[in-house]
Amino acid sequence: MADKHATLELGGETHEFPVLSGSTGPDVVDIRKLYGSTGHFTFDPGYKSTASCESALTYIDGNEGVLLHRGYPIGQLAEHSSFMEVAYLLLNGELPSSEEFDDFNYTITRHTMLHEQLRQFYQGFRRDAHPMAIMCGVVGALSAFYHDSTDISDPEHRKISSHRLIAKMPTIAAMAYKYAVGQPFMQPDNNLSYTGNFLRMTFGVPAEEYEVIPAVEKAMDRIFILHADHEQNASTSTVRLAGSSGANPFACIAAGIACLWGPAHGGANEAALNMLREIGTPDKIPHYIERAKDKNDPFRLMGFGHRVYKNYDPRATVMQKTVREVFEALNVQDPVFETALRLEEIALSDDYFKEKKLFPNVDFYSGIILSAIGFPTTMFTALFALARTVGWVAQWNEMISDPAQVIGRPRQLYTGPTERDYVPLDKR
Ligand code: CMC
Repeated sequence: MADKHATLELGGETHEFPVLSGSTGPDVVDIRKLYGSTGHFTFDPGYKSTASCESALTYIDGNEGVLLHRGYPIGQLAEHSSFMEVAYLLLNGELPSSEEFDDFNYTITRHTMLHEQLRQFYQGFRRDAHPMAIMCGVVGALSAFYHDSTDISDPEHRKISSHRLIAKMPTIAAMAYKYAVGQPFMQPDNNLSYTGNFLRMTFGVPAEEYEVIPAVEKAMDRIFILHADHEQNASTSTVRLAGSSGANPFACIAAGIACLWGPAHGGANEAALNMLREIGTPDKIPHYIERAKDKNDPFRLMGFGHRVYKNYDPRATVMQKTVREVFEALNVQDPVFETALRLEEIALSDDYFKEKKLFPNVDFYSGIILSAIGFPTTMFTALFALARTVGWVAQWNEMISDPAQVIGRPRQLYTGPTERDYVPLDKR
């Protein structure tokens, strides 16, 4: 029984609903019985005030700019941990012991290869296909290949599917890149780290030894950590909703990839760098700021603003620092970084952005790093998908493990015609 209750007065009657508390964060009014007891639905397009599930994975305090995975602050994880360790943490709830970590790494490494026949799928795409189109198709196609682990009621099957997805995403993403540039696919090298192997499969060629640059490997790994999970964002909610019907896990992740692609979500990293390049030099910034503020202009500052963060996105802080580290390690400069810093400064001192609490998000600086490493902009969102797969499978698994889990099925406020009679074609 909940200690606290919310009272709703409707048509002269009073109804009480339990108020539930989590371990931290806002309490929620439990309205599961609202329809049954009042015959009313709630109306919340975009889920601005709706908690869709219970979760113990990730906590965000958007006003304070806090992001915790299983309680650990993202800044600490980005500084001291590795993507594989964060993956283990998200999947299992605790940081691994060295033995558990070695086992996990070993298992993921043993699943990095793709079924040979999946190569045929790539040949079906045009060479200029967007990598996210390829990712949607190939990841969805995995559901036709791994029939031995699709009993989602079996925790062991769920574990194997999750490991397969995490392990194969770098191979799939690297192959999408190789296909676009017309180079041969590189087989995984299990002697390398998860991230080192991905860099080699992407930038290596069979004719030469590929040397992983430690600073680049670290930066890439950190970018993966920063994208690993972000509670009930649009793509994660898509994965949960798809999974709630009992669908095949690979198909659910393909649904998440499709949702992530949009420029309001994961596609913003590509859009942000394109925007910064279009702005070009700092003297053009005021013009774009004015455009972003103009209600009649669809232009928005990409990489700015967030549904949950009404403060600096803690991931953007780490990203900005990482830009400098990568530039130094590769001995490169990109004038677009100066433009980005100046744009941030101008926007943050502008009343429009201050009042609406719009700050740089994770996508504002990530493209500058990825571009310096050598990725074309079209690959940026595919890298986001690679990393977010960890969050998607962890959230999917958490949902399916919950004995109270039911199919997700929102209702609506119907505004179409009421019942009317069909009129034959010759009478219309
Ligand atoms: N530039 C200019 N104005 C903005 C921006 C922006 N980037 N973002 C929000 N606003 C304005 C918006 O016009 C609205 O103004 P008003 O109240 O006068 O109508 C107000 O701020 C609130 O915006 P909203 O669209 O109602 O807020 P939302 O929570 O629905 O949208 C968002 C959040 C991320 C979609 C939005 O901020 C946006 O489109 N940002 C640019 C795209 C982007 O960077 N997306 C990546 C998000 S972080 C990574 C991820 O999770 O995928």
